Amino acid sequence: MAVYVNVNGRVCGEREAQVSPLDHGFLYGEGVYETLRTYNGRLFLFDRHVKRLRKSAEMIALALPVTDDELGARIRQTIAACAQGTTNQEFYVRVLLTRGVGDLSYDPAACRNPSVIVIVRPFVAPPKEVYDRGVSVALVSVIRNHPDSVNPLIKSNNLLNNALAMQEALRRGAYEGIMRNHKGELCECTQSNLFIVKNQTVLSPPLTSGILAGITRELVFEIGNQIGVRVQEEVLMDRNLYDADEAFLTSSTRELIPIVRVDEHGIGNGLPGSITRRLLAAFRDKASTLTN
Ligand code: PDD
Repeated sequence: MAVYVNVNGRVCGEREAQVSPLDHGFLYGEGVYETLRTYNGRLFLFDRHVKRLRKSAEMIALALPVTDDELGARIRQTIAACAQGTTNQEFYVRVLLTRGVGDLSYDPAACRNPSVIVIVRPFVAPPKEVYDRGVSVALVSVIRNHPDSVNPLIKSNNLLNNALAMQEALRRGAYEGIMRNHKGELCECTQSNLFIVKNQTVLSPPLTSGILAGITRELVFEIGNQIGVRVQEEVLMDRNLYDADEAFLTSSTRELIPIVRVDEHGIGNGLPGSITRRLLAAFRDKASTLTN
């Protein structure tokens, strides 16, 4: 698959791309990132993603060294290069901002220039069955980072917490893993946010449970409001998930995916729920309208 990369303003193929092993992103996992995609060939919610990237960077005392316009231009250039080698109309975009190259030290002053890397490849959507039939998830034993440790609000390149949780989910044959926080509250999945539906109300753990402020999650709140479905934050425990009428997960690359099973517990009637389906349809409409 054609993968194109933009390293500090220079576009090249994946094989030609060079990042120093002395980049603190590689050495220490010191960096932040965003994943976004196109609809109708255009970047979806770019402004919200850059805003979150800047916020994540600020939380690790790092600053994005380019303007929003410059970053947008670099992404579009990289998409244009990628578009030449594919018939695919949609693209996956990952933006990484790392501390940059410097001496082996945790002192931020060791690195003068942050690295900005954009990875683009053709976007491959999750298979249709995933939306039609829903997925099984595992409630894993790995807990989400404590907010006073690596705060989950930081969209950090240091993804070991998520990777270990996902390893456990995969061992258990699940599509995703749901993590709890140190207090036993449900937080989020390893690569997506969590929602349940109970008595016609859509509920999602609050940011204070220690989660990423997902952009798709934010849009689900807005869309719910627009189509007359109540969506609110609520602290959720295991039993709330097991007793839910419906459940779903959200992310920029997955939209809304129905959850129909958590380990050995079926959710609702074991099929994607009607509120989940309504929200997914409204989400797709919105994505299409906003990129037309
Ligand atoms: N993941 N929670 C976590 C831990 C995530 O990694 C993600 C996104 C989300 C959903 O956020 P958003 O709706 O803004 O994509 C929630 C991206 C897709 C990734 O890791 O590539």
